[in-house]
Amino acid sequence: MNKQDSTRLIEWFYHFGRKLPWRENPTPYHVWLSEIMLQQTRVEAVKNYYTRFLASLPDISSLAQCEEDIYLKLWQGLGYYSRVRNLHKGAIKIMADYQGKIPGTQEELLKIPGIGQYTSKAILSIAYQKPYVAVDGNLLRIFARLTCYDTDIKARQAEKACNDFFYPLLGSRPGDFNQALMDLGELVCLPHGQPKCELCPFKKCCKSYQNGNPLSYPITVNKVQKKTIEKTVFVIHYQNRYLLFKRPDKGLLASLYEFYNVEMKFNKEEAIDFLKQKGFDIKKIEDLHECKHVFTHLIWQMKGYDIELEQLPEENDYLFAFKEELQDRYPIPSAFSYFLEYILLK
Ligand code: ADE
Repeated sequence: MNKQDSTRLIEWFYHFGRKLPWRENPTPYHVWLSEIMLQQTRVEAVKNYYTRFLASLPDISSLAQCEEDIYLKLWQGLGYYSRVRNLHKGAIKIMADYQGKIPGTQEELLKIPGIGQYTSKAILSIAYQKPYVAVDGNLLRIFARLTCYDTDIKARQAEKACNDFFYPLLGSRPGDFNQALMDLGELVCLPHGQPKCELCPFKKCCKSYQNGNPLSYPITVNKVQKKTIEKTVFVIHYQNRYLLFKRPDKGLLASLYEFYNVEMKFNKEEAIDFLKQKGFDIKKIEDLHECKHVFTHLIWQMKGYDIELEQLPEENDYLFAFKEELQDRYPIPSAFSYFLEYILLK
């Protein structure tokens, strides 16, 4: 691969690259926010979240001052909520230590919560035009196919090899170079299914294409088995108000709101007994479907019940939220979206 090939890539990008909201005005704040959103979420899904987030919190100072429930609500559905918690912490730090301006060196960027190697390099190259290769899954896959890289792509050395391969080709617009590779990875050099090699600006210099085996790369080794947890979820309601719990402020889905649930699978009788023991006066119980939610390392297999109460529990320091509040006010993770939609459509 040589300079001519990278010029071909940049030309392809200017022609076929995507028009994305965060590319319109790539300030450090815009790039930071979009890169954090894009870490575990597809581009198409991020677009609306990004625009809505910026409409509410247009700058670092407003993010720094934002209340937890509000930024969690803006993030609802994106998952991996530590990302937005870190954005908030980061904004506070940037206000306190950097006069509200995101620093332009890797050393300083790495001190900001949630900014690691990848994000720092994306910010530096896209917002500050500094020569860094932002190695993400797309770049690794393209690199593996270009070079027939024959060891585990998830290993540390692969990241370095990929960085060293692309670094000399960055050219005068490193941000465009990185984003061109990201677009190439998402539009042409596809992860699943057949890559569209005929359309690729690298087809002349791609070793795996020349060998006729691009699908043999990247090479990955063993995936960890996910653990399944069985749960029973109770949609408990009384007169158009629904019982919500706030999760603990540490651990999985911290500080988000959820429907009452336990880590056991109950049949109807067991569910009734359990709720009676907890002091709930049940008027009616109905079965809801089973559903599952897949996290990175975990699967929740959930059986639901709709529980109408005869009266509010006696010792009632529970939060009973109105339907509108379930929608507009309380951040409820996607793991419960089946139950939330069930209520909203009732
Ligand atoms: N994925 C991660 N960052 C991206 C970006 N800036 N453009 C397109 N896809 C991306």
